[in-house]
Amino acid sequence: MATRTHQPSIPLTEIEQSAFCRTEDQLPAKSLAEEQAVNVRWQDIPAQYLHCSVEELDQRIGIAKKTLGKSVTILGHHYQREEIIKYADFQGDSFLLSQEAASLAEAECIVFCGVHFMAETACILSASNQRVILPNITAGCSMADMAPMEDVDDAWEDLESVLGNRGGITPITYMNSIAGIKALCGRNNGAVCTSSNADKVMEWGFQQSDRVLFLPDQHLGRNTGLKMGIPLGKMVVWDPFKAMGGNTTEQLANAKLVLWKGHCSVHTRFSAGQIQAARERYPDIKVIAHPECPMETVDAADFVGSTEFIRSMINDAPAGSQWAVGTEVSLVNRLAINNPDKLIFCLDPVTCPCSTMYRIHPAYLLWVLEGLVDGKVINEITVPEQTQVEARVALDRMLALK
Ligand code: 13P
Ligand code: SF4
Repeated sequence: MATRTHQPSIPLTEIEQSAFCRTEDQLPAKSLAEEQAVNVRWQDIPAQYLHCSVEELDQRIGIAKKTLGKSVTILGHHYQREEIIKYADFQGDSFLLSQEAASLAEAECIVFCGVHFMAETACILSASNQRVILPNITAGCSMADMAPMEDVDDAWEDLESVLGNRGGITPITYMNSIAGIKALCGRNNGAVCTSSNADKVMEWGFQQSDRVLFLPDQHLGRNTGLKMGIPLGKMVVWDPFKAMGGNTTEQLANAKLVLWKGHCSVHTRFSAGQIQAARERYPDIKVIAHPECPMETVDAADFVGSTEFIRSMINDAPAGSQWAVGTEVSLVNRLAINNPDKLIFCLDPVTCPCSTMYRIHPAYLLWVLEGLVDGKVINEITVPEQTQVEARVALDRMLALK
């Protein structure tokens, strides 16, 4: 068994997740000074940006963006707040954003309005002369933080000791993970997946070996495995807080799917009970959910898919249709605003944005853009060379599948 050098712990980002939850529907931006009253970690920023009104920020972002022209591309994930996404040159789910980052030739600099693992991926996939910026360095992801490198290295060592180190198990990591895990997958014949291609990548994984280690999201892994016909009895959960992940050698040898015990703090709020309540209230409602939701929620939903799938399904739906949506509220609110002829609401009655995505406040975007106007690269995201090379292998395996 691997020698553990530290005790696993609950990530701070998980503890901070409910900080922005509110009961009223909308989440309009306030000045950063006011928003900083919410007790999460915020990156320090020059005082001049703290008290700018949202209107001033908006005006200055527009000017900076115009000045920078094509030298800077802003990428925005669907979960970004409205005051940010309006400036994105390209908006998408994790898969589309990674494809876009790999194909941007003109931009000297990519400003990634999303979370840390997305910016890291853009850095790995972009050309070596391009710089990638994350406007607020504290915009992480609680799920990614549930799989720190030391724990995953220990687990991989344990799994190889039980299952053999040649093809006993194929590691597949969800995009929502640190670059080091993508690199581990790259050098051990594994791959990366996103919520839009997890089934294809898992199918590929089972062509490489009899078993798959799926990390860090147990729910996406379980939902995908079930979709492929793998029974629950052939799945085990790897708990990094326990020796051998809490499994016996026999359980691991019999398993087809080993699921890392990680989850998304946003999507685990959606429940089958909420779906039932929505159906009782609106008998014609269609329920659409992200595959990071628990199995019971996914089972009860009418449709399941990535943020891009959710977005296009609702945008393309007929007028008068009704939708209860199991995903992050900034995207749900935007869909509701853009489709006034449809009834669209978040399955969770309490408004809870992803607390790390939400930390990309317009003041941070303005700070990094004005920095570029002045020739300064603020918050550059870099990945060590060897990690980049190995992680790219795992990412390219995914990109080749779709
Ligand atoms: P998508 O890949 O569907 O955009 O999801 C990313 C994410 O972080 C969901 O929580
Ligand atoms: Fe991470 Fe969940 Fe936020 Fe997505 S919604 S970035 S998985 S914490």
